[in-house]
Amino acid sequence: MQIQILGSAAGGGFPQWNCNCDNCSGVRKGLINAHPRTQSSIAVSGDGKQWILFNASPDIRAQLESFPPLQPSRGKRDTGIAAIVLMDSQIDHTTGLLMLREGCPHQVWCTTQVHDDLTSGFPVFNMLSHWNGGLEHHAIPTDAPVNRFTIPAAPTLEFFAVALQSSAPPYSPHRHDPHAGDNIGILIRDTPSGRSLFYAPGLGQQDKALVEVMSSADCLLVDGTLWREDELLISGVGDKLGVHMGHLPQSGPNGMMALLDGFPKARKILIHINNTNPILREDSAERAELTRHGIEVSHDGMSLVL
Ligand code: MLT
Ligand code: MN
Ligand code: ZN
Repeated sequence: MQIQILGSAAGGGFPQWNCNCDNCSGVRKGLINAHPRTQSSIAVSGDGKQWILFNASPDIRAQLESFPPLQPSRGKRDTGIAAIVLMDSQIDHTTGLLMLREGCPHQVWCTTQVHDDLTSGFPVFNMLSHWNGGLEHHAIPTDAPVNRFTIPAAPTLEFFAVALQSSAPPYSPHRHDPHAGDNIGILIRDTPSGRSLFYAPGLGQQDKALVEVMSSADCLLVDGTLWREDELLISGVGDKLGVHMGHLPQSGPNGMMALLDGFPKARKILIHINNTNPILREDSAERAELTRHGIEVSHDGMSLVL
């Protein structure tokens, strides 16, 4: 199984267009040891030809141009994207669907909750129905602790969804009434090799089913949004805490580093890094601490093979 990191930043990207925090202004001016990043998205393939796109970021146009296997090659109009999986209904994971309108219909796998948001608060399914069949919804179940599903375009891969504690976006009709399925993590298993990736760009809290699924994965590609709970506050750019956004910070006794320490055999990589996070600076003390814990930070263009 091949995994391509198309984008590794959280919503807003790095640098964020209106942000003058130390990281954003530093990377813009070339004053810090850090690389720009687009908003999080990955592509996964069992055969190197048919790709499953996990989230459609607002940066998708540049992301497709950066990765030839997703580009047209078999006809005048073509794409390597065989199906799309949405982990939530957030802007940074769904607005790219609008940019894919010329290639409709698309096969889209998401939970009923995400489909509800995307037919009401942000009705992208309704809008795109005016483009050649639009988006065809396939429901990802979330009623069991772990929910197996398959995607016909990827016959050698198996998918297992786990509902995660996180927040639905501001435009969701159930923003203040969390439902299982607002946000999911997915284990992707390559049947021929038996190897697996667990992907969860938004992970707010650990629980039993999650830990069980994570312990079966060879590689964990998980929420790297914030270093600390009050990061937006201390960076002077906002007042939301990690807990309000559904993102578990890396530091602290119950943080992501502590959680990942529980999986000594897996390769551990962070994704969905917010532009305020000090780990974006390759020479920061926080980045060194991650390295001591055996945790990597993904970057745009990173490839994994499992
Ligand atoms: C989040 O995951 O909280 C998002 O990155 C927020 C956003 O896109 O505005
Ligand atoms: Mn996000
Ligand atoms: Zn910033």
